[in-house]
Amino acid sequence: MQVKLKVNGQAVTLDAPPNTLLVQAIREHLRLTGTHVGCDTAQCGACTVHVNGRALKSCNVLLAQMQGAEITTIEGIAQADGTLHPMQAAFKECHGLQCGFCTPGMVMSAIDLCNNHPNASETEVRELLDGNLCRCTGYQNIVKAVVMGGKAMSAPNT
Ligand code: FES
Ligand code: FES
Repeated sequence: MQVKLKVNGQAVTLDAPPNTLLVQAIREHLRLTGTHVGCDTAQCGACTVHVNGRALKSCNVLLAQMQGAEITTIEGIAQADGTLHPMQAAFKECHGLQCGFCTPGMVMSAIDLCNNHPNASETEVRELLDGNLCRCTGYQNIVKAVVMGGKAMSAPNT
């Protein structure tokens, strides 16, 4: 089947079997491999992307459901000149990662979290980010990064 959508601002038409998952389309058809697959069962959040501005686990939806949707992946959030998104910069600054496997999904979820809860506190971040798992960090620096990234996103000139 044919699905027309926008990915990171570019119009894309994909021809794929009806049972193709969105994460397969992103990784295997579009070769945007920053979106990871950790569990394939909607538990770990490594596959999180934005669909029409909201975070979504892309292993848990079909490409066929995305007709006309606007998708943003981790490759699409920095500026064209390479300037990192404030949330990416905060993860870098706070050392919010170790192996980096969970990081793209964490960042995409964190942006959505902070869009909907500007200036979220550490406690709120811990509660609201519970759909994203990290096997390395113990979460401490991830939480710090999300709080810092949220503040930067709320700052007047961002
Ligand atoms: S791969 Fe999608 S939630 Fe784990
Ligand atoms: S940094 Fe390794 S899984 Fe999170």
